[in-house]
Amino acid sequence: MTSLVGLFRAVARPSFLKTFPRSEAKITVAMRGIMTQQNLPHLPVPPLKKTLDKYLRTVKPLITDEEFKITSNVVAKFGAPGGVGEKLQSLLEKRAKSTTNWFADWWLNGAYLEFRSPVTVYSSPGLVFPLQNFKSSDERLTYAAKMIAGALDYKKKLDEDAIPVEKLGKDPLDMSQYYKVFGTCRMPGLTKDTLHFADPNNPPRHIIVAHKNHFYKLIVYDDNNNILSWGKLLQQLNEIIQSAGEPGPPIGVLTAENRNVWGKAFKKLSEDRENMESLDIIKNSLFLLCLDGPNPDLGNLNFQTRAALQTVHGNGSEANSGNRWFDKTVQFIVGDKGEVGLTYEHSPAEGPPIAFLMDHIVNYIEKAPSDVAGGKSPKPEKLKFNISGKVQKVLETAKENVDKLVDDLEMSCFTLKAYGKEFIKSQRMSPDSYIQMAIQFAFYRIHNEPGAHYETASTRKYLDGRTEVIRSCSLESVAFAKTMLGSKSNEEKVKALQEAVTGHKQYTIEAVNGFGVDRHLLGLKLIAIENGMDIPTLFMDTAYIRSSHMRISTSQVSGKCDSFMCYGPLVVDGYGCCYNPLPNEINFGTSAYKSCPDTNAEKFRQALEKSFIEMHDALVSVQKSKL
Ligand code: COA
Repeated sequence: MTSLVGLFRAVARPSFLKTFPRSEAKITVAMRGIMTQQNLPHLPVPPLKKTLDKYLRTVKPLITDEEFKITSNVVAKFGAPGGVGEKLQSLLEKRAKSTTNWFADWWLNGAYLEFRSPVTVYSSPGLVFPLQNFKSSDERLTYAAKMIAGALDYKKKLDEDAIPVEKLGKDPLDMSQYYKVFGTCRMPGLTKDTLHFADPNNPPRHIIVAHKNHFYKLIVYDDNNNILSWGKLLQQLNEIIQSAGEPGPPIGVLTAENRNVWGKAFKKLSEDRENMESLDIIKNSLFLLCLDGPNPDLGNLNFQTRAALQTVHGNGSEANSGNRWFDKTVQFIVGDKGEVGLTYEHSPAEGPPIAFLMDHIVNYIEKAPSDVAGGKSPKPEKLKFNISGKVQKVLETAKENVDKLVDDLEMSCFTLKAYGKEFIKSQRMSPDSYIQMAIQFAFYRIHNEPGAHYETASTRKYLDGRTEVIRSCSLESVAFAKTMLGSKSNEEKVKALQEAVTGHKQYTIEAVNGFGVDRHLLGLKLIAIENGMDIPTLFMDTAYIRSSHMRISTSQVSGKCDSFMCYGPLVVDGYGCCYNPLPNEINFGTSAYKSCPDTNAEKFRQALEKSFIEMHDALVSVQKSKL
């Protein structure tokens, strides 16, 4: 999931990477002085013709024949020998030779740090952990203490370089994102944010516990640098609960504001010495743990949807949205009714490293040692904030704005119980491509037209790699949806499904190898801007605009445990849809904006479930007919 707004331009690398310079294709990542080196290839620049041909295929289902004729001419002119496309291509190839990853900085800045809308809902995903059933406050705090201990245990493994290299098939993936999660904070600026990384020579020893909108510094190591036992952490959490008193002003909602507004308020807030100290303590902490209070009446939403809302935005300024610091990369969340999970600020990392962290924690909690003794640490320290009249004004508006955002987001999360990836594999199809085709089908079922569809593909097989787009809407996906909805035989339906899945899988392979359409075209556009050239007509053409208006924004984030990631739609008239395919079921987090009359997450969920069932039934029926 990614925000795409902003005019991208190249600026300096994040300070973390400046501290650890690279040599050739080697990356050096470090926390607390432990080094990991990876030899990985560089992201290629795809051949121009290949991208343009593929681009034409992907836009065809989204435009009329008349528009396609115009687009074909625009593309032919752009790609003509000696034309502007070739000029831009050679500039891009030059950039690729002089950087470790020609796209990485553009992406970090353009998609994230220069993106000025709130990170809440628009950029930061929620990750829902297996739901809990706390029978008492003590059970809840015990879970929270073990969650902290589990996260610290994971960090220890990172520090010891003991986290195995993630692989996609046989390919090792760039692991640098794993090392950017703890101690990281997005710092608001007036027009652009920056990323603060913990100093590896002076690593943080504390976390922040948020409770009733208060922020507490909690040192989580003893004098010998051992992680406090979860029993000791439990004592500290109890201390916080008992001393919290009345809720504080929801100052955390400032971090859910438009980034320019927050940047200005941050400057004002920092003028006070005590505030500055508190902001520094939050910035330098390892992560946040949010011990949430009650939520408003959420009606008859299921438990998964409640947890999703809790992790994505916290249900408003009167509930838990102020009990957050959305700039912090990771905030673990423990709701009072058993909704548990995290939210993460997206700029330093994609979902997979975060899901890996979750699996470690969930596993740790299950097997946590029974030892409750051990370790000494000072009492938690409540951070002080002095709110001036000017900041108070901004805070009032921030409260209204976050409440509007909360009101506008509809989520509908569920588990497809009927089957999971094992059934799909048994049909000799790629589970991911199959799920993507079900999503396309669901959209077509509701809207009677195809929707431009973004699926995240990881390009981490390359140094500093991040993502490419799989354009899941294709000629085959549309033919498949039409076949399913028409009065066709099961054999025809299965054939159309197989063709759509095969087409999608082929695109996936190309995308993970860096040969998608979107990043290359964006690169050509940005290099034109950087060189003071006119933006080519191709980028103003209906086909480009419509095919980049991603009405369906999707990602697979697979965790081993019963979990799912979730986020808001990418465009106002779109859907967000993130899924975790488990062996025998699939978890989904879907979303839409209530302010858009054309979309509805609940309807989308129903259409999706129906699509999965019909696809299954067609496959089983054909299988039976062959017996
Ligand atoms: N028959 C039988 N099995 C098949 C098959 C077929 N035709 N095709 C694939 N499979 C198997 C695979 O071997 C694999 O098996 P495994 O679970 O034993 O490893 C499994 O099905 C899953 O493969 P598939 O569903 O094709 O997906 P994938 O694992 O290749 O993932 C992406 C595809 C796009 C999700 C992945 O490449 C990716 O980029 N992931 C990262 C996405 C990301 O960054 N998300 C976060 C955004 S914030």
